[in-house]
Amino acid sequence: MKKKASPLGRSLATRAIHGSKLHAFKGPVSTPIYQTSTYRFDSSDDAVRYAQGDSNVMVYTRYHNPTTAEAEERLALMMNAEKALLFGSGMAAITSAVLSVVKTGDEIISTPALYGGTYRFFRDILPRHGVEVRYMNPERPESIIDLVSPGTRLIYFETPTNPTLNVVDIKALVAATQRAERKVVRKIVTMVDNTFASCLNQNPFAFGVDVIVESGTKYLGGHSDLLAGVVAGSKEFIKGVHTQLKYYGGSADPFMSYLLYRSLKTFELRVERQNENAMALAKFLEKHPNVNRVLYPGLSSHPQHRIAKRQMVDAGGNGYGGMVTIEVKGGVKKAVRVCDSLRVAVNAMSLGGVETLVSIPVYSSHINMTDDELRNHGVTPGMIRISVGVEGIDDLKSDFAQALR
Ligand SMILES: Cc1ncc(COP(=O)(O)O)c(C=O)c1O
Repeated sequence: MKKKASPLGRSLATRAIHGSKLHAFKGPVSTPIYQTSTYRFDSSDDAVRYAQGDSNVMVYTRYHNPTTAEAEERLALMMNAEKALLFGSGMAAITSAVLSVVKTGDEIISTPALYGGTYRFFRDILPRHGVEVRYMNPERPESIIDLVSPGTRLIYFETPTNPTLNVVDIKALVAATQRAERKVVRKIVTMVDNTFASCLNQNPFAFGVDVIVESGTKYLGGHSDLLAGVVAGSKEFIKGVHTQLKYYGGSADPFMSYLLYRSLKTFELRVERQNENAMALAKFLEKHPNVNRVLYPGLSSHPQHRIAKRQMVDAGGNGYGGMVTIEVKGGVKKAVRVCDSLRVAVNAMSLGGVETLVSIPVYSSHINMTDDELRNHGVTPGMIRISVGVEGIDDLKSDFAQALR
């Protein structure tokens, strides 16, 4: 008998394009869109089987959908996960994954620099559910051991962080969590938001992280035309998250699932080019007299470049990602003028699309924060976050040169 090749032995692009069903069946090359909210039963026996717990019976799109399942299978293969679950947005994925772990009286330990939406969920919503979030020093992962308590259930972090592009040492953080687990004698879940790096550049599972959450709106979608979120992890963990999905209702729409499935086929091509363009633009901007600082993990001037190299590129990643943050001379007024003067790059929030986007963190991802909070996040008024697209690099360089002038 011919041995079946494991889809995980194939390259990321092959997994993204073909999924696990290489030559498995005749029919459409592209997946159909099951644009339906519900499913016709053959007879009420189906309803009975469903009521008895048979998960193969299709019932309702908030619970499951074949187009969504197709995208989820590919995401799991790409992310090296047992299972992936698709949501209607990154925030739906993050909140559902977190709420599948914590309940009233529990604690989370997190890095302070987070996507603003996640941070505000931790600050404004979780305390109403009786969940406390404590913040660790990301440069000292062992600070987890001092902060841990019998109520700690979750270690949550991002790397690289939004928008400061700080890098957290994933291996050291997992090791510190294991020591903390021995101290409190219980399992603590580690969860990382891998949106900025994406699975082409960083595989946190290889370092022992339990769960990956990601905004699929960004690099996975890649065309600034959809909202999506993903949770990836063990089958058992995903089962618990699926319960949250059913009741909080953050389900993926079938048409979005199709758009995402389609985008995954070009994911590697796009992100490779974004890595390349980001590195070239970061080097160019680093020499510009009107730029105070360039934050990019691929630059040797980046304070955590060695960690980034070890856990991204040396560990098999393709590059350092497509996000570059600059701090212009002259503060927020100058940052506004630069953004308004760009002709190729688009002044718009979000990231990860084929088109270069710029935004000013104090007016976008980091609004509604005190000066102290901004300081903790490392965000300054003159910062411009650049999501580098796949345009010609010379066009991008001359666009930034004229805007900075
Ligand atoms: C790092 C990160 N995580 C999560 C999110 C939230 O994703 P979404 O906007 O798809 O809900 C964002 C959005 O910008 C993000 O940048």
